[in-house]
Amino acid sequence: MLRSLLLSASRNEKLQQLASEAAPARALVDRFVAGERTEDAVRATSDLVGSGRLVTIDRLGEDTTDRAQAEATRDAYLVLLHALSAAGLAASAEVSVKLSAVGQALPGDGEKIALEFARDICAKAAEVGTTVTLDMEDHTTTDLTLGALRDLRADFPWVGGVLQAYLRRTEADCRDLAGAGSRIRLCKGAYREPENVAYQDRAEVDKAYVRCAKILIQGDGYPMFATHDPRLVDIVEALAIRNDRAPSSFEYQMLYGVRTDEQLRLAAEGNRMRVYVPYGDEWYGYLVRRLAERPANLTLLARALTSK
Ligand code: FDA
Repeated sequence: MLRSLLLSASRNEKLQQLASEAAPARALVDRFVAGERTEDAVRATSDLVGSGRLVTIDRLGEDTTDRAQAEATRDAYLVLLHALSAAGLAASAEVSVKLSAVGQALPGDGEKIALEFARDICAKAAEVGTTVTLDMEDHTTTDLTLGALRDLRADFPWVGGVLQAYLRRTEADCRDLAGAGSRIRLCKGAYREPENVAYQDRAEVDKAYVRCAKILIQGDGYPMFATHDPRLVDIVEALAIRNDRAPSSFEYQMLYGVRTDEQLRLAAEGNRMRVYVPYGDEWYGYLVRRLAERPANLTLLARALTSK
């Protein structure tokens, strides 16, 4: 019920207009989105890097409905990568790309278009000396996205992928992708998924996260642990020590505006701490869809607004 209300709100132009003008909505956007322009993303990155954190930047825009829009998203990433390089930030900031934003869901040759545009972004990232991570979306796209990851890694071995602990398949995917050279972000998963493909119970998801974290940390790749969950952060810390993992051989990741004090603590203790920074003018759908995808995120947002 709540989910369908939020989903219809995410497509309602009047509500979008109201939200753009309402002060509380602006405050929410300012807290979770770096801004609308490339300069805003670069400025936020510069601040984060200045405080010892690393960054991955997401250009907002998942509902790509035609090739021109996919191309515009690709071009925005190219401009962003150029700007990061010009600002001397490319060594500390990479980009996160949703294949849907570069055309994956377009009818006909969407998959081909997305791969071509993702390849262009990777080539630019290579030129400026940084990396790309492919975000993971709902389970209907998991195989396609992992296939694209395999293809891209043939030319750009440093391309990272994301695995979602709530999917029942993910332990097996972690085993496949824990080898030398791989960069895998492990998150809980943000989409509403059916029972046959995903654990529904939060405790089950947390246990799956720990099992997946063990596989990744015992492997030879570079794991990226994306969570704000204090219990999971503690477990990752303990696993890293038990497995003799140098702090440079893995990283923590959190979202822009969430648990800032914890981000700073982890960075100050010598850990690699990367912040996921969304920017762009399509913030309304992004924020509302986040809430709709997983109502637990309502609590996350409420907590973030009342804490630092
Ligand atoms: P969860 O939301 O269950 O929160 C667990 C606990 O963390 C809370 O009970 C509380 O103790 C603590 N907590 C959370 N927020 C807090 C706050 N503001 N203040 C204090 N305590 C707080 N998903 C996806 O499907 N595909 C993707 O590609 C990505 N990419 C991604 C990148 C990065 C860097 C992050 C951090 C997350 C993603 N996600 C994602 C989203 C992810 O799957 C998940 O939905 C959110 O991170 C929320 O899950 P948590 O692990 O934070 O735990």
